Amino acid sequence: MGPEDLEKVLRLLPRGESTGEILVGLDTRDDAAVFMLDEETALVHTLDFFTPIVDDAYFFGQIAAANAMSDIYAMGGTPISAMNIVCFPCSLDMNLLVRILQGGLDKIHEAGAVLLGGHTVDDEEPKYGLAVTGRVDPERILTCTGAEPGDLLLLTKPLGTGILATALKGDFLSEAEMEEAVKGMAGLNASASQAALGAGAHACTDLTGFGLLGHILNMLPERGLACEVHTSRLPIYPRVIEMAEMGMIPAGAHKNRDFIGERVVLSEQVDEITIDLINDPQTSGGLLVALPPEGLKAFSELLDNANEWAQIGSFGENAEPIIRVLP
Ligand code: CO
Ligand code: CO
Ligand code: CO
Repeated sequence: MGPEDLEKVLRLLPRGESTGEILVGLDTRDDAAVFMLDEETALVHTLDFFTPIVDDAYFFGQIAAANAMSDIYAMGGTPISAMNIVCFPCSLDMNLLVRILQGGLDKIHEAGAVLLGGHTVDDEEPKYGLAVTGRVDPERILTCTGAEPGDLLLLTKPLGTGILATALKGDFLSEAEMEEAVKGMAGLNASASQAALGAGAHACTDLTGFGLLGHILNMLPERGLACEVHTSRLPIYPRVIEMAEMGMIPAGAHKNRDFIGERVVLSEQVDEITIDLINDPQTSGGLLVALPPEGLKAFSELLDNANEWAQIGSFGENAEPIIRVLP
């Protein structure tokens, strides 16, 4: 669902439980919840599932699992166990489902977690994902708010997966031609999470469906902080700009743009394609990290070199939560 529709529904429901054990619950903008077991251990809970974003069943499984575990990493946690969530048409070749689940299982194992079970539903369109439990030190939880004026804004994977997936669906691009993005989406945010923790990050969130601007907005409190984004510094997957120029913009990008509304100030030098890119809904995107400048060296050393990361902006003092988008 888009951010606007989701907000309409959640507004009509109670704000959720509050007990001392709930360290992060429904009342924050984080996608994962944190429940304290004792002073040294808290559990991180999250779930995510979606329809195939690529044709290759094995890669789809990997991407869906990496995406679901991403919310654990965004909180500074480590996945420990997972359950499969499966919707699949009984009329389809069951070998496809085997490949999807194998992809998911391989990712769960890569993360050092175990698969405990799952649930399947007969459905017209396949959907796959995970419910994941992770472990986190209650003293070292990363949340999406907490950035301070002067912090740098880092992004740990390139942008453009929504645009590429739209081009793939329209047969304007083959899966081989978006190989880098497929591998990127299947990549875990494990090392990025460790780097953020080790370098002393003030805040962290993962970049998914609300797009770059939507997720940055989630990092800004009601008052006191603004963010500046330098679009020339954005890491972008190959072929994205070309496909965007051909009009391969997912509907979600427009919804995201409407939702942001007046909370973004766009420089006149930023072109339409770039505006689409910064609103493009991402699948299994990188982490957005708010880092004090003195942590930058440690961050780059801790992040393994498979990550294509960039410093894309910075946070500053401001009465209103505004994102300034610069060339
Ligand atoms: Co999600
Ligand atoms: Co998330
Ligand atoms: Co069941």
